[in-house]
Amino acid sequence: MMHEYLHIEQSLGLNGQASLFGAKNAVLVIMASTLLTNGKSRFTNVPRSHDVYQMMRLLTSLGAAVSFDEEVHILEIDTSFVNKFSVSADLMGKMRASVLVMGPLLARFGQAQVTLPGGCVIGARPIDYHLKNFERMGVFIESIQEVVCAKVAALRPTKLVFDYPSVGATENILMLATLTQGITRIVHAALEPEVLDLIAVLKKMGAKITIMPPATIEIEGVNQLYPVEHEIMPDRLEAGALLLAAAITGGQVHIPQAPAYAMEIFLSKLQDMGHVIQVGPLDVGITLKATTDPKAVSFKTTPYPGFPTDLQAPMMAAQCLASGTSIIEETVFENRLVHVRELQKMGAQIVVKHNVAHVTGVDELYGAQVIASDIRASCALVLAGLASTGITIMSAVHHWRRGYDALEQKLGLLGARIAYHYEESPKNTIDPLLSSAKQSHLHHVS
Ligand code: UD1
Repeated sequence: MMHEYLHIEQSLGLNGQASLFGAKNAVLVIMASTLLTNGKSRFTNVPRSHDVYQMMRLLTSLGAAVSFDEEVHILEIDTSFVNKFSVSADLMGKMRASVLVMGPLLARFGQAQVTLPGGCVIGARPIDYHLKNFERMGVFIESIQEVVCAKVAALRPTKLVFDYPSVGATENILMLATLTQGITRIVHAALEPEVLDLIAVLKKMGAKITIMPPATIEIEGVNQLYPVEHEIMPDRLEAGALLLAAAITGGQVHIPQAPAYAMEIFLSKLQDMGHVIQVGPLDVGITLKATTDPKAVSFKTTPYPGFPTDLQAPMMAAQCLASGTSIIEETVFENRLVHVRELQKMGAQIVVKHNVAHVTGVDELYGAQVIASDIRASCALVLAGLASTGITIMSAVHHWRRGYDALEQKLGLLGARIAYHYEESPKNTIDPLLSSAKQSHLHHVS
């Protein structure tokens, strides 16, 4: 069996300039949206994160022709010969975003069959909001154990008032509504920047969509949508990781493409910690110069424009070394504090009550063997490792790969000592993580 891990050494004062790939959370749904069209779409700035490959497999299984030029990050999807509306359990189980093909398949075939989706282990993550609103639009849903069969009875435009601004449910309903005759309104919709990138793509395809304050999306159905070319928006979460890497190591980073307009609360919290933030013209481009005496800040995750749940774990890593106490409340997901246990192994002082973590800053973290539990937890552990004395070994690297495109290489260019190892686990080895580095195949990236 292969064992892979990241080997992270303390790397103080990271410094330099970093670029960003396209946002994983935008590209996945945009890939799904090509099912609404017949023909070849082309996307640039596509990250090589593993979830993108997973969505490529899913679309291929439906009959799409997909080609990805990894060198130049260009993805082409030809949906001319899509001829299936059923997604295998294997494909669905690996990634929650698989559910995002439901809306487009219903629009294209009047039918979709999926199993309950997989993804990160961060709570129950049901898809009831998706299904309930499909039903309100005239879709008949039948669930037999894990399999969900959806069939259009008669699509009707309607006003849908969401109980909660779910990102995925907003995207799914939005995509089906683009080809539903009449006017559909989604009230209390999610307006995350990645949803807006999807809307930009759908409009290029020919969809008629208007956003009305405070959070209503109005869609006037059209008969047909057309293939597009689009550059995926820069990843605000990758930007957040790079900014925090500079912050936690006491360094400085400049990210020319960073979408500051989509990162307001996060940036203001970094400033409250004492870090100096400079934003470029038109709210694009961010420079962070770290303070030598970071102060703890408290925050609560909420839907956009609130503090993003996907930056909660990475931001918590920074609080572990700040002076004072930070109170961090996770309200979006029910089980998204699993990284606390791993940070504690590194010496962090954190007490959790329900969905609230009280983090008391310490002078020093120290390297440990830690296990990533989801994509953003992996980021938190890498950041903590960069600021810890000694060596941190992070296993379950597949979570890191699902969400980031070779981010360890970008960190390496800033001076981080971080390397990817893989090795065959010898049978009956008690501690394979720390077995001789000589046995391992080492890819130093710094
Ligand atoms: C998307 C992002 C994810 C991010 C999240 C919140 C992608 C691929 N993933 O996930 O990185 O953390 O938005 O910003 O874009 N819920 C239900 N029933 C539903 C749908 C959601 O109870 O039918 C709950 C979820 O369990 C969760 C909360 O609503 O607790 C938010 O989920 P949602 O906004 O739908 O997130 P995702 O689209 O899954």
